[in-house]
Amino acid sequence: MSLTGVRIAGVGHYAPERVVTNEDFAGWLDTSDEWIVSRTGMKRRHWVAPGEATSDLAVAAGRKALAHAGLDASDIDCFIVATVTPDYSFPATGCIVASRLGGVDKPGFDINIACSGFIYGLTTASALIRGGVYKRILLIGAETLTSITNYEDRGSAILFGDGAGAVVLEASEKDSFLSSELGSDGSRPELLFVEAGGSRNPIDAEKLAERKNFLSMQGREVFKFAVTKMIAATDVALQKANLTRDDLNLLIPHQANKRIVDAAAKYLNMGPDRVVINIHEYGNTSAASIPIALSEAVAAGRVHDDDVIVFVAFGGGLSWGAVTWRWSA
Ligand code: UT7
Repeated sequence: MSLTGVRIAGVGHYAPERVVTNEDFAGWLDTSDEWIVSRTGMKRRHWVAPGEATSDLAVAAGRKALAHAGLDASDIDCFIVATVTPDYSFPATGCIVASRLGGVDKPGFDINIACSGFIYGLTTASALIRGGVYKRILLIGAETLTSITNYEDRGSAILFGDGAGAVVLEASEKDSFLSSELGSDGSRPELLFVEAGGSRNPIDAEKLAERKNFLSMQGREVFKFAVTKMIAATDVALQKANLTRDDLNLLIPHQANKRIVDAAAKYLNMGPDRVVINIHEYGNTSAASIPIALSEAVAAGRVHDDDVIVFVAFGGGLSWGAVTWRWSA
């Protein structure tokens, strides 16, 4: 038996207990439940407790995925965390998570490509397994976006939540990975970025006073880009897999805005039964949103053996990507 393919052997997710509703924001921002629901589809999001960090969420989700796969951390050859909100700027959260789960001396690293993190991570991890470098990888999308959210900016503050989703990938006879389409355009980082705190603009008192250490976004620009790229990436990924939209059983998109997902799903001719949406519960959790949605879809019995799934995301970079995946139970 040659194990030259890859499959997902287990999934899991974790969201912090504290729930923040749209009404809560209306307490300090000029906003309303009606505006947030109609413009984004969001109703609730989960926020970390003081002292809770990204590795805490990642470890909780990782444990669940390992349990679901019936495996132990010692069975894992490599730990990858997709995040833009690491515990520290370095060391990598992947190292911290590997150690805390019990992956002694195993490689751990991060993928920093914002909301596209899970798609880039799935592509990377699948290549490492299909290429024979590793047999099992724990891939986790985990974010504490509340740590970089500017709560004085009503245009972005209401969007983000904290959470983590994890998948155990393992070498397999049947190959689930059918194709990947990735892209980026770094010519305008200011469309969606944290301006200060890196080598371009080290933090100083002035930048802190101007809140440049928090996320800022040109929402309308990102919205237009998101719809276009989600559709194009999905189509190209399907073409690369020699499939068409009709072959697609389930679309699991990044949960940034229900209007973005609805617009893309409409164009792709995918009815609600073929699209996973949980944005009302979690808001936008960046790299965590797709693995959380997958984990919930599996738990709800929406994913069946042999189903063709497209995972698709877009975000800071700007970046985008889609992976076509044939589910193997
Ligand atoms: O994960 C990837 C990263 N992010 C995204 O994908 C986000 C993409 N963009 C979006 O989802 C949308 O652009 C937003 C939800 C951020 C904004 O929705 P929009 O329909 O594009 O609104 P807008 O920015 O065009 O603003 C419309 C109005 C403005 O008022 P005026 O200038 O028309 O008087 C805003 O000031 O809505 C106002 N507004 C708000 N009003 C109440 C903006 N935020 C709020 C708010 N509550 N929270």
